[in-house]
Parts: sequence; structure tokens; C-alpha cells
Amino acid sequence: MIPPFLLTPFSVGTCKIPNRLIAAPMAGLSDLPFRKILKSLGAGLTFSEMISAESYSRRHKKTEMLIKRSEEERPFSVQLFGANPVAMAESARRLEAEARCEIIDINLGCPAKKVIRGGSGAALMRDTEGLFKVVDAAVRAVSLPVTVKMRVGWRPEDRAGLKLIPELFARGVKAVCLHARSVTCGFSRPPDWTWIKDAVAMGRPLIGNGGILTPEDALEMVRRTGCAAVMIARGYLGNPWIFREIRQLAEEGCVTPVALSERFNVMTAHLSASVETFGEKHGVLKMRKHLAWYVRGLADSTQFRGRIMTLNGQNEVLATIDAYREHLNQRDRQETRNG
Ligand SMILES: Cc1cc2nc3c(=O)[nH]c(=O)nc-3n(C[C@H](O)[C@H](O)[C@H](O)COP(=O)(O)O)c2cc1C
Repeated sequence: MIPPFLLTPFSVGTCKIPNRLIAAPMAGLSDLPFRKILKSLGAGLTFSEMISAESYSRRHKKTEMLIKRSEEERPFSVQLFGANPVAMAESARRLEAEARCEIIDINLGCPAKKVIRGGSGAALMRDTEGLFKVVDAAVRAVSLPVTVKMRVGWRPEDRAGLKLIPELFARGVKAVCLHARSVTCGFSRPPDWTWIKDAVAMGRPLIGNGGILTPEDALEMVRRTGCAAVMIARGYLGNPWIFREIRQLAEEGCVTPVALSERFNVMTAHLSASVETFGEKHGVLKMRKHLAWYVRGLADSTQFRGRIMTLNGQNEVLATIDAYREHLNQRDRQETRNG
């Protein structure tokens, strides 16, 4: 049987990726403990959170933590942002020398003020000369494949990002990930996948991103755009199972809903891993958002969320998770009895 397209391997330069399901970089969220879960549920490629090329080239300790990967995370892409070609080259060289990743990605899409202020991220889309210097510096510094993650442009009408794609490939970029929104569209306006389709015609591999919230969306993006791979971001928050669900949908045509027991097991395992990685205070704090997302749509989740936001100790959080699990189980039993 021929495997469904999204489950087939593909290559980015010399890097072979086992399937076409990619977990997006998400600052503050796609950290080591969470990426391990995403990987175990079927992500073919994971990304570090974005890191500053300046900081990494100066060996800042915090940056080191952000690029730490687990054994299973192969292949792994480290995403750099920066406007200084020297720091970009130095960081890329060090990442390669220390075998930190198999792909180096450059962030050209981040609209955060503190990133743009330094001329990095999405600001590079308005500074083509600077952009090419940064990209050339990285491409020349390493033999690892260099990729870029970008938006369609600053404003929807200008499509400046799209127009850069052929030149980026010509300069040695091995894949482009296109977030189908402009910078002024932020994160909330609906993405326009026709931009991904247009970009596919300009060069490959083209990775499509933006608005994949369900397994059906992933298959639909490929059908509508012809992209080589799909990148999922907010769709995996609270639902790391989306990677497994896409596999199921592609192979079997339907998706098995995640059992409550598995959901809660992943929540507690995620909490333990977060505390182990970041220490109790920071690890618990980081988990507040994740736990709130994990219970989205479950009965009486508002009370659970409210309580979680007030807790600081791992044991208290664990007890609250257990109590909520028991509450839902009881509710289930009651409903079964009532027919
Ligand atoms: C909280 C948050 C953090 C993000 N961090 C990064 C980042 O570090 N690097 C990056 O390239 N994109 C980052 N993004 C953008 C996502 O990777 C993705 O391109 C965007 O959310 C669109 O995909 P979606 O519609 O599937 O969420 C971030 C987005 C959000 C909401």
C-alpha cells in the first residue's frame, strides 16, 4: 500500500525528515518537555523556540537551555533571529560544530516589538539588503541546511515576502516555511492559503503554516496548496495528539478521540517533565497555560482553570488534576447510570 503523502519522508537539503508533520517554533511554549510529547505523538520535525543569534554567539546561559534537545529529537531545527550577519554566522557555525541540530532556521516573521526594534524577525522583510546579508552569512557558514520561516509580507497587499522566495532559494536556502498571514494580520486574522499555493509554484520544499487547528485542516492545506509539508502551531496547544490524529485520518479516514485517561496521563507527565527541567517554581508556572489548554471543552473546566492559576507547588497542582479527573469520572458514571 502506498503511504498517504503526509506520512512519507521528505528532505530538506541533507536532512531527511520521516514525515511531513512539523511542530512550529513557539516562544515560551515549545520547550523541551513539550517537544518531547509532540515528538512521541508523531511530529516528524521539531523546532527550538526562537533564540537570539547575538545572545547565542555570546554564549548566554539562558539561550543554551532553549536549544537543548532530547535524544529522540532527531531531526531538530534551531531557529535563530537576528540582524547582525556576523553573529548569525558565528551562531550557525557553533550550532553545527556542537551538533545541536540538523537544520538551522532563520526567523523572518516575528512581529514582536522587541524583535522588530532590533531590525530582526519580520523587520527584515522591509530591509531586503539586510535580509540577504543575514541569510548569506548563515548559508556560507555551515554545511547544514539553512531554512527560513516567513510571512507573506508586511501588509497583505504588498506580498513582499512572497516575491523574495525565488531569491532565497537561489541563495542556498533549502526550504521555506510560509505563514500565510502578513505582519499586519498578526495572529488572529484568518490565513489565506492561496498565498501558500502561489509560493509552492516559486520553489520547493515549501512548508505551509497558518490555521491548522484540526487533522482535517492539515489534509485540506495539502490538497488546496500542494505544499511539501504542514507546520502546526496553535493547533497543538492542549492537543499534542493532533499529530497522531492526522496520521489516523490519513491512514484510516477517521480519528479516535483521545481518551480522558490518556489526556490526564499526559497532563501529569508534562507537569513532571516541566518541573524536572525548569525547577518547581518556574516549571509549575510554565504549566499553567498548558493545563488550561489541555482541559478546553471538558465539563466544569472553568473551575479547574481558575484553581490552577492560583497554585505554585507541584503537589498541589497534581492533587488538583487528580481531583478534577475523579470529578469527571464520577460525572461519567452518573451519566451512564442515568442512561
Ligand atoms: C505564543 C506564540 C509564540 C510564537 N513563537 C514563535 C517563534 O518563536 N518563532 C516563530 O517562527 N514563530 C513563532 N510563532 C508563530 C507560529 O510558529 C506560527 O507561525 C503561527 O502561530 C501561525 O500558525 P497557526 O495559525 O497554526 O498558529 C509564535 C506564535 C505564537 C502564538
